[in-house]
Amino acid sequence: MYPQSRMQRYRTTETIRRMLCETSVTADDLILPVFVIPGHARQESINAMPGVERLSVDLLASWSKDVLCHAVLIFGVPDENEKKEDASQAIAEGGLVPQAIAAIKTARPDITVITDICLCAYTSHGHCGVLCADSSVDNDRTLEMLARMSEVHAAAGADMVAPSGMMDGQVAAIRERLEKSGFHKTSIMAYAAKYASCFYGPFRDAAHSAPSFGDRRSYQIAPANRRQALRDALLDEAEGADWLMVKPAMPYLDVLSELRRETTLPLAAYQVSGEYAMLKQASKAGAFDERSAVLESITCIKRAGADVIITYYANDICEWLRQDADKR
Ligand code: PBG
Repeated sequence: MYPQSRMQRYRTTETIRRMLCETSVTADDLILPVFVIPGHARQESINAMPGVERLSVDLLASWSKDVLCHAVLIFGVPDENEKKEDASQAIAEGGLVPQAIAAIKTARPDITVITDICLCAYTSHGHCGVLCADSSVDNDRTLEMLARMSEVHAAAGADMVAPSGMMDGQVAAIRERLEKSGFHKTSIMAYAAKYASCFYGPFRDAAHSAPSFGDRRSYQIAPANRRQALRDALLDEAEGADWLMVKPAMPYLDVLSELRRETTLPLAAYQVSGEYAMLKQASKAGAFDERSAVLESITCIKRAGADVIITYYANDICEWLRQDADKR
């Protein structure tokens, strides 16, 4: 008790504070998302996400030369006229994402390439699966598409596939297909606990993937639920996921920390588009220093249990960490 115990003794000098640092973030912990569009020399800004752009495949080689972290997550964003009821472009062998994988791997073979596996950017209606006659999502028919999409990405050179559609059985269906076609080394990073969150708003603008009717509450988890998220995540583990993910990150740190205690699998957390937009806009408005706020947010996500963090700030963070290292 006080005065024998004084916690401030641990905080007296910079060196002592650094000795006692329990969580540090490095470039190895970060994954940078990228939005890929068809065409040539196309570079489009995204309204709610200043600093993030959609890029055509031909620009990826030079883009990837500037990537400072070691892993990227690819989202394909086809043009409106390529979106179909049956999401056929999602499984096209020479499609947007296979081209993007090749472009990045050619320019930077050292970068680990992860691809998002979901139909929402490829369906004309914007839902994450193909539809039944009553317009609800047909879970079981969607599994075949997700398995094929994963196989196509693996064949194009993806190191990991990240199924994000929250279809039941998607991890098992994908693992089975990858094994059958010989892609034993392709990992599955499962968006295991993915919430029906309004924090995806800017992403849906970025990926042109907002549902044209209804919402995603019949397949994504309700924000109020924690036990259900743990069960959903542990089912993905049982189905053969190599990694589990919690998404969004900051408002769901309790889920992340509890999942950390329930599994020995590595965990990812996704600092989503809305979190990026909040940090960006609040910094622009002078509410706080951007760099301090972003580094604090990432440190806290890691402290809560994430091994890796997917963030649109990945490159900026690497740059800031380099500057800090140069100063010491
Ligand atoms: C695809 C998908 C979404 C995100 C990642 N994969 C959107 C959604 O579920 O509506 C969101 C990422 C972000 O907001 O940054 N289903």
